[in-house]
Amino acid sequence: VKDRNGIDQIVLRNPRGASVRVSLQGGQVLGWRTEQGEELLFTSSKAIFKPPHPVRGGIPICFPQFGNRGSLEQHGFARKKIWVFDENPPPLHRQDSNGKTFVDLLLKPSEDDLKIWPHSFEFRLRVSLAADGNLMLLSRIRNINCKPFSFSIAYHTYFSISDISEVRVEGLETLDYLDNLRQKERFTEQGNALTFESEVDRVYLSSSDVIAIFDHERKRTFMIRKEGLPDVVVWNPWDKKSKTMVDFGDEEYKQMLCVDGAAVEKPITLKPGEEWTGRLELSVVPSC
Ligand code: BG6
Repeated sequence: VKDRNGIDQIVLRNPRGASVRVSLQGGQVLGWRTEQGEELLFTSSKAIFKPPHPVRGGIPICFPQFGNRGSLEQHGFARKKIWVFDENPPPLHRQDSNGKTFVDLLLKPSEDDLKIWPHSFEFRLRVSLAADGNLMLLSRIRNINCKPFSFSIAYHTYFSISDISEVRVEGLETLDYLDNLRQKERFTEQGNALTFESEVDRVYLSSSDVIAIFDHERKRTFMIRKEGLPDVVVWNPWDKKSKTMVDFGDEEYKQMLCVDGAAVEKPITLKPGEEWTGRLELSVVPSC
């Protein structure tokens, strides 16, 4: 399907009616629905659908830089580019193919990108929807240059939640984190599960590969499983910062929480010809 700017979007559906929508603009997942038609990702009512502006919501991809940790623009350029639909993607591994539907999008640097980041790469993003409704994002990044390069990456996932004061995140207890609100200083998480009562902008370091977001009011839990992505970004702008963002409603911080599988603290280095793989799997389970 085409969006209002004539840019292609691909909708994956599984036999039970769950769906995922992904745009060639940014390779950004813009929707993930259950078989009952409920949207699981947050998108702002003030989102700007004007390329190359990344949409405020869904899953923008931060690459080859996370945040302002480097000389590139905030979160790198990948989320502002038009990706290419691959009509002949390599097949899924057999053990992986059970009832799964997928699409592959490709990004290669343009001449202009090479001027600001002089490294040739091929980024293959596979978005798949499983028979059980789980959403998978598999990134393969290959160095097709003759010298090594390093990058960081985050799947900046905007989860739709009932109320920020009612959710808790488990899996980050006792970890060290870098606090973006305090000059990226390093702290250690003291509490049990993470709960929210003010702005949060942190990079948790070297977490386990399973993180859970419990939403009591909606009686459901998001499970985040990741491979190759050691860090977890947790972000909620709260009221003051919300008012400074043109593409975000003043009160919308209550209905969203970003929890990203990421590789931020230690950039990934690829030698010529080498490939890196990072995998994120999102699922939602009922809870009481
Ligand atoms: C977070 C950053 O991950 O993304 C925040 O740590 C930033 O500092 C947020 O505000 C949103 O970024 P952007 O560029 O999409 O507004």
